[in-house]
Amino acid sequence: MERLQKILAGAGVASRRKCEELILGGKVQVNGETVTTLGTKADPAVDVITVGGKTIGAEKKIYIVFNKPKGVITSASDPQGRKIVTDYLKGITERLYPVGRLDYDTEGLLLLTNDGDFAHLLTHPKHHVPKTYHATVKGVPHGTELDKLKKGVMLEDGMTAPAEVEYQDIDPEQKHSTISITIYEGRNRQVRRMFDAIKHPVTKLKRISFGDLYLGNLKRGLYRHLTKEEIEGLLKQARIAGNKSAKGQADRSK
Ligand code: URA
Repeated sequence: MERLQKILAGAGVASRRKCEELILGGKVQVNGETVTTLGTKADPAVDVITVGGKTIGAEKKIYIVFNKPKGVITSASDPQGRKIVTDYLKGITERLYPVGRLDYDTEGLLLLTNDGDFAHLLTHPKHHVPKTYHATVKGVPHGTELDKLKKGVMLEDGMTAPAEVEYQDIDPEQKHSTISITIYEGRNRQVRRMFDAIKHPVTKLKRISFGDLYLGNLKRGLYRHLTKEEIEGLLKQARIAGNKSAKGQADRSK
């Protein structure tokens, strides 16, 4: 027997939080009875569970890594008719959702899954999973400017957490440079805003890793399924990072 919200999230209905809302909203039935209590348990192998009248089955879990080109929206649909990520996922019929977002103009590593728990764990702000980007910026930031990014800069939504930053490539004419930056948060347009804060705006942004997973030689616009080891590696990393942050908080409150 398992909690209903866990079964629903596991079946790819939505994130666990959203599934709780569905239960509270009276949208979920077990064997024909509407259930609105969050602690309710059921056995997906025996009980008939429906959401909005649709019976859920034990959907196969899918985990993919996609090399998103720039000019593609990280979303299931776009009213303006721009290209969306799922346009590139031919052959996948399951409804996948992104593990975090990349901006329209950002390219690179994007994880997609129908496993709500996996997505939640990896994107939870407390879990601080590292994400590395190669940011091509105007000019060449001075070492002291990069130090600001390393320590944390003030953005309109508060200070950023310490980041790892290093030069990747410098144009001989010093018109632009590429900086490798690893951040442990996932705020909206964070990398672009961090470089705006030191007055070296980003002209090209590419995510090259998420946790221990690297884009490698995956071609732009293509995807591949993660291996079991890669999935387990990401989950382990989110848990370890989560524990570290819980410990950090406990230490700070001593
Ligand atoms: N930071 C950004 O500014 N954009 C992204 O797409 C991801 C991180």
